[in-house]
Amino acid sequence: MYVRTLSIQNLRCFAKVKLELNHPGREQPLRSDTIRHLPNVTLLLGDNGAGKTTVLRAIALGALAPVMAMSSGFVPFSLVRRTKLKTAARARIEAGLLLDEHEGEHTGEESQTLTLRPLSDFNDLIETLDFPHSANIRKRLYDEREPAYFILGYSANRRVEPYRNVDESSRYKVRSPKYLRVAGLFEENVTLMPLSVWLPQLRRHESAHFREAIDLINRMLPAGAKLLGNPRHDEYLFRIGGSDLPFAALSDGYRAHVGWISDLLYHLSRSCPPRRKLVDLRGVVLVDEIDLHFHPQWQRQAVPKIAQALPNLQFVFTTHSPIVTGTLSSANVLLVRECIDKNGISRSVIESPDEELYGLSADQILTSNIFGLDSTRDSDFFGRLQTAAREARAGGPEAAIRYMRMVSAGAAAEDSTPPPSRRKVSPLRKKRTVARATSLSHKRTQRAKDRG
Ligand SMILES: Nc1ncnc2c1ncn2[C@@H]1O[C@H](COP(=O)(O)OP(=O)(O)O)[C@@H](O)[C@H]1O
Ligand SMILES: [Mg+2]
Repeated sequence: MYVRTLSIQNLRCFAKVKLELNHPGREQPLRSDTIRHLPNVTLLLGDNGAGKTTVLRAIALGALAPVMAMSSGFVPFSLVRRTKLKTAARARIEAGLLLDEHEGEHTGEESQTLTLRPLSDFNDLIETLDFPHSANIRKRLYDEREPAYFILGYSANRRVEPYRNVDESSRYKVRSPKYLRVAGLFEENVTLMPLSVWLPQLRRHESAHFREAIDLINRMLPAGAKLLGNPRHDEYLFRIGGSDLPFAALSDGYRAHVGWISDLLYHLSRSCPPRRKLVDLRGVVLVDEIDLHFHPQWQRQAVPKIAQALPNLQFVFTTHSPIVTGTLSSANVLLVRECIDKNGISRSVIESPDEELYGLSADQILTSNIFGLDSTRDSDFFGRLQTAAREARAGGPEAAIRYMRMVSAGAAAEDSTPPPSRRKVSPLRKKRTVARATSLSHKRTQRAKDRG
């Protein structure tokens, strides 16, 4: 299953929006074939509070509507839109799905709708469900071993359960298995499955899936990190920087990444039929703040590596990272923007970027319309830089030199006080002095770079 379209009405910050998501097989026109476009990725960008997490929740609600509505353990909280002027009568989410052989006899485009109504100040209730499928599909819907309706959601709070605490039988007492896969998007206390619990079982019962899982995890790790195929004292270890370490000993950045990709492989192995490859399974994976704790070097590679390792999964990521954004085409990106009306009430909209992003630097992306920053410099320093620019325009060559030095070397070039002189200088002399200063400061920057 993939989610093609989503219509959202009166859900949290959204009054009414419609969006189309990328999925394997979806064709998108590109400005050039050198642009990296990942057909299975949609990247949501937007300010804090713009509505990125709400979109992930809406996808989960729309795609898993029948599961959410049937004693799944899901308790709707603050989903119906409430503003200071009014509370909406209902929220409505309609998901346009693309069903395939995993879902059974009913393949092709299908849509299903979920509506919620407010119950009290903050709690809501699922009101109706428009679900057209047969009883046969209903059965597949609730069975975790079935690849039907395969959808996983990882929130920014994703946390792996310490492996010795895991009690597999109690995991499903409160939440139904398919709801549990997205429950982290709605609840705080949902934990992910540690490798050392499920890998040994997989090795015993499905050795081909076990080998494939190790290989896939390794393909999605940063260069220099490797998951070892043999456990030591029941723990699976990662070889990083010459040390073999269990998951719990990894740094926050590794844990934030390895935690969800290994949980993803766990669920793929649970739902993949024997004799099928894990990589063939189709489904949807929602990851909030994909760049959480990532070093910039890994931000440059992470999304393409993940999406190319699992090309049959549809990924929807959110991010604040301009580096992650610059690794993809603008056709991979949707912008979530908050607009404030005349009553001071905010309402979010979803747009496509109007400029190509692939290959731009982080600085260019941050100062483009997409992030809208006036500069990436410290705001106090930027104020002084603007003053220096005005002085350079009005004053002599010293002011121009000072400005150029501040541009290239930052506050380190700021120690000299602004020159008071308004000496008459010939335009030619001014031009030569500025050119010399620019070249000097360029050389200094280059030397600093070469020194590392
Ligand atoms: N019931 C509600 N009605 C209206 N707005 C809400 C409601 N619940 C939350 N919000 C607002 O929805 C906005 C979007 O939140 P979220 O999706 O978490 O943003 P993001 O993930 O982009 O930071 C928040 O600014 C929040 O104030
Ligand atoms: Mg969020």
